[in-house]
Amino acid sequence: MKDIGIGVIGLGRLGYVHAYNIARRIKRAELIAVCDMNGELARETADEFGCRAYTQVEEMLDDRNIDAVCVVTPTAYHVEPVEAITKRGKPFFCEKPLASNMEDTIKLVKLIAESDSRCQIGFNRRFDPEYAEAKRIIESGELGKPVYFEGISRDPFPPPPWACDPLKGGGLFIDMLLHDFDIARHLMGDDIKSVYARETNMVVPAEGIERFADNVTANLVFSKGALGNCHASMHASYGYDIRTEIYCEKGSILLGSPVKLGITVAKAENGVCKPITFQPEGKMPHFMIRFEESYVREMEDFVDMVIENREPSVTEIDALEAFKVSAAAIESAGSGKEVFLSHGT
Ligand SMILES: NC(=O)c1ccc[n+]([C@@H]2O[C@H](COP(=O)([O-])OP(=O)(O)OC[C@H]3O[C@@H](n4cnc5c(N)ncnc54)[C@H](O)[C@@H]3O)[C@@H](O)[C@H]2O)c1
Repeated sequence: MKDIGIGVIGLGRLGYVHAYNIARRIKRAELIAVCDMNGELARETADEFGCRAYTQVEEMLDDRNIDAVCVVTPTAYHVEPVEAITKRGKPFFCEKPLASNMEDTIKLVKLIAESDSRCQIGFNRRFDPEYAEAKRIIESGELGKPVYFEGISRDPFPPPPWACDPLKGGGLFIDMLLHDFDIARHLMGDDIKSVYARETNMVVPAEGIERFADNVTANLVFSKGALGNCHASMHASYGYDIRTEIYCEKGSILLGSPVKLGITVAKAENGVCKPITFQPEGKMPHFMIRFEESYVREMEDFVDMVIENREPSVTEIDALEAFKVSAAAIESAGSGKEVFLSHGT
């Protein structure tokens, strides 16, 4: 007997991954139903996993066997399901970003706070074994204080059109760098105070999208004085290239490399590089493979949170704080000026 029943809304790139993990890999949960506005896709997926298919969110939520919900619709379509879920007070997992603009993000943060629902955000990098190890090392204090964050996030090809459009909750500052902004806050243990960002379009055709950028950079200053830099791109044809460095007082932690994925800790005792973990692949796989383990771990954590009735480990406030950095980066890239952030709702 499984402990809780889950319904997944949105069965595209990542919705399928979450549905698969819940159906096949998460022990304490059962996939009760899937919902997609594309009825054929919903039926096919339901047949594969032996669950019910819906095309209407409200109808799925009325299914009495659903204890918790997973929202994996395109970012601009998170509001409606989140409103329906919070009305029923059900716990839910929502893919990042919580919403596609600041107004909707704040609206949903307030709605969640006023409801009986608990929300966990899909900042999956926090659950990746290598990033979790980096967090452990930083918290152990062995490398002293973190002073510089570097994030590189490059897709091998452009994402779906909506995910390229800043007006639909896409674009590199929101769709991609939000991950870096969140993991930067998480690993540096600090909020981001200001952003100075730049954007350009030199390789991928804009296809009529306003303010389309295929490469962006964001220069960060943290509240305690640490510095950071992030680069995102969508034409890294050599592979899915995700790298992070947290340079600290007494050494550095490097995650990922163009030829091998893994984590390297460089410090005085062990010379320049000591590999801790590697993946066997010689080339970089795309996000579903690179972050495969993290998607399972974050869903396990969500299911445990619901069963144990505890607070989520990643919340809508984390989503709000990361989104503020994305919004500030967009403003800065437009104005050419450094933008300062305020924290809280
Ligand atoms: N954490 C990660 O690594 C990661 C990776 C990819 C995407 N995402 C996030 O996941 C979400 C989904 O992205 P994707 O790339 O899987 O999208 P997608 O475009 O591949 O698929 C979205 C699916 O939702 C369905 N849909 C749209 N509106 C709907 C509605 N109102 N009701 C029911 N179904 C609806 C569509 O028919 C489609 O099948 C986004 O918020 C995105 O930012 C996160």
